[in-house]
Amino acid sequence: MNPNTESQSPPPAVPVVTGPSDGPAEVAPPARVLVVDDEAVIREILSDFLTMEGFQVLTATDGAHALDVMETHPVNLVISDLKMPHMGGLELLANVREVHPEVVTLIMTGYGTVETAIEAMKRGAFDYVLKPFKVEEVMHTVRRGIEQQQLRAENIELKAALSLYRLAGRLGEEVELGPTLELIVDTVQTQTRADRTGVILVPAEHGAWHAPTAPFGLDDLTERARTATEPVIARNGRVFRWLVEAPHTEEITSLLMIPLISRGKRVGTLVAAREGGRPFAEGALKLGTIIADRAAVAVANAQLFETLEATFRTTIEAFVTALEDKDRYTAGHSERVADFARVTAEEMGLPPADVELIHQAGRLHDIGKLTLRSEELNKPGPLTDEEYERFKAHPRYGEELLGPIPTFRDVIPAVGGHHERWDGKGYPRGIAGLEIPLMARIMAVADTYDAMTSHRAYRSALPHAKAVAELERCRGTQFDPDIVDAFLVAIERWRDQRAAEGREYPR
Ligand SMILES: [Fe+2]
Repeated sequence: MNPNTESQSPPPAVPVVTGPSDGPAEVAPPARVLVVDDEAVIREILSDFLTMEGFQVLTATDGAHALDVMETHPVNLVISDLKMPHMGGLELLANVREVHPEVVTLIMTGYGTVETAIEAMKRGAFDYVLKPFKVEEVMHTVRRGIEQQQLRAENIELKAALSLYRLAGRLGEEVELGPTLELIVDTVQTQTRADRTGVILVPAEHGAWHAPTAPFGLDDLTERARTATEPVIARNGRVFRWLVEAPHTEEITSLLMIPLISRGKRVGTLVAAREGGRPFAEGALKLGTIIADRAAVAVANAQLFETLEATFRTTIEAFVTALEDKDRYTAGHSERVADFARVTAEEMGLPPADVELIHQAGRLHDIGKLTLRSEELNKPGPLTDEEYERFKAHPRYGEELLGPIPTFRDVIPAVGGHHERWDGKGYPRGIAGLEIPLMARIMAVADTYDAMTSHRAYRSALPHAKAVAELERCRGTQFDPDIVDAFLVAIERWRDQRAAEGREYPR
């Protein structure tokens, strides 16, 4: 048949699959071979023999048709003619290398074009066969090619297994949602070589989707994408079946979307996008799917943990209130210490995250006093030795109380060290100078100022000027001198502001 007349007839919409299909369950599925030739005779001969050899066979009439077929039907090996209309063998080879790097390619060529066949091998073809070919020779080469392909596939799986193994290990150590998502996103980004990666979470209680790292949000997904329960891989024109066209989605040329399913419930969607360059290959989808499987459980657990943690946080806040109710002299103490510590940290030029942290630490600094008895807290006279020992342990109790809760991890140094002294004569550890955590050194000044300027069971409040004089006297012995300096500037500003707001402040 004349190849030109053949090529003008449109390729069949659905490729015909011949060969064995459903074997016994324990036998691996037969390898799939795609025969690409514009000559029907060649396609037929190769199909027949390859089927007899036990392969599943698909056919295509040229390179462009072959790529179409591969889009929906994964194959192990492509055996292709060199010269075809629309898209020849070399161009097909280049495309297969990009889009389906796990697929092995064989080139068929006539005697006159051996040079080109060698060129094809340089560009990554596995081997070539000369036309007219001996069928036995072709079958032998195909079998070798399939072996090669299985090695490649195993390599990809090994790589996936290794990255999954590492990810699983690190996920096992992480309980918080943010870092868990970061780990997953990092792994997917590296493994699939995506330009942008993220996780879009299914709302837990608050009704809004939360996409801290995703290249796009829920609103950018089509209805079809929101409800997809199977992994999706999309390239070029097909991306917009899944994404709404918008300025920030326009650049995306290839997309992976993998639902995260934990205990039968969808917790989110893993998304990876490329902007230009090579589109995602099947290998990337496979890797992504394996990672998603492990990630889903981790995300579900982290969400559960977040809910638990929010409960803990509320409980601790309630404890602080309970503590201040228990000790009538210290009502508002924690809140004021938090305020003084915050303005001091601001005065020292600490970063906003640290300022926020020190404010939180101020609220919690005396949480360990929950372990003391009411009558000890309110005792007007001096404490017995035993009572004093118990009192001195309250920073340690505070550490123990907050220790198991990761959100409070960063405030623990301030809680445990707020009664240490610059000269090392404090408690519970007796550490000195810069050994004492910065937050604890700030807390010590803020705490002492408030203690002096509030009424206590055993004495009445000191005026502001006396408290300042006392801090100056203890500058360099009890307190870090730099922090006293910062505090004394900050407290004046704080008092001015309170006065301007018509609120109470130490006179
Ligand atoms: Fe304290």
